[in-house]
Amino acid sequence: MNLESPQAVAAALRSVDYLPDDRISQVVFLANRLDKPILVEGPAGVGKTELAKALSRVTGKDLIRLQCYEGLDEAKALYEWNYKKQLLRIQADVDHDWEEIEQDIFSEDFLLTRPLLEAIRSENPVVLLIDEVDRVEVETEALLLEILSDFQVSIPELGTMEARTQPMVVLTSNNTRELSEALKRRCLFLHIDYPDAQREQEILAARVPGLSEHLAAQVARVARSIRSLDLKKAPSVSETIDWARTLLALSIDDVDEDILGDTLHVLLKYQTDIEKAAKELTSSPQA
Ligand SMILES: Nc1ncnc2c1ncn2[C@@H]1O[C@H](COP(=O)(O)OP(=O)(O)O)[C@@H](O)[C@H]1O
Ligand SMILES: [Mg+2]
Repeated sequence: MNLESPQAVAAALRSVDYLPDDRISQVVFLANRLDKPILVEGPAGVGKTELAKALSRVTGKDLIRLQCYEGLDEAKALYEWNYKKQLLRIQADVDHDWEEIEQDIFSEDFLLTRPLLEAIRSENPVVLLIDEVDRVEVETEALLLEILSDFQVSIPELGTMEARTQPMVVLTSNNTRELSEALKRRCLFLHIDYPDAQREQEILAARVPGLSEHLAAQVARVARSIRSLDLKKAPSVSETIDWARTLLALSIDDVDEDILGDTLHVLLKYQTDIEKAAKELTSSPQA
């Protein structure tokens, strides 16, 4: 698909039901043009992971995902040796020709490739999603740098494995800690915030089949006003989608205060937030 202008990118993303704002389309266009990774940052549930999935659908490239977590190491991110296979190979060798064995068991055949290595060794270019990179320790970030800048992996026993193809890389961060300067420098930065009411309404229309335009507009408006309250956890786009589905399931065509009060727990996940929102949004003065 054509990604030759920000407008073309926007149209392509829309065609796979991802509703971008102008900034998202612009950064994707530039990342594609400049062959740079995108670092997407923003609150939970605003479409960061979904952007990578949408890019995979748009380009027809496979998505390879590295889900980050505390304690993620090289063996899970890059590669590890297949010890079991190595052991079998050693046991099967009756002459114990160690030199030959060693050459053999440290060859590519005995390597288990993990997402990062898999992404650069793939015959066809892929979309590489490095999800929630802020969850790994800052030292582990260093693992990513060689991949992101040189598109290669150094393996002591084997040498440098270079990229067969260059992946389109998307990193996401929920901003639980600062990322290293070195990592940021290699990426184009994209902040995604909660959508405005218009875009959220469009997202709802794309993601919740059967939702009336009227209800979609109401849901988007209410979500917006709830987000303006001082809450522990504002409702994300995923939660407004859930809420819209809830209203549909309950055959509700119009949201009034009672219905809002009754279904707030779908939008908000802290009792204190639910109470606060109920108080602020449903206590209209009695006539
Ligand atoms: N711009 C968007 N267009 C279409 N759907 C979106 C958009 N943003 C968010 N969504 C919806 O919200 C859900 C949560 O988004 P996700 O990418 O998982 O959030 P996060 O930012 O936490 O990675 C997605 O599954 C998708 O249904
Ligand atoms: Mg995510």
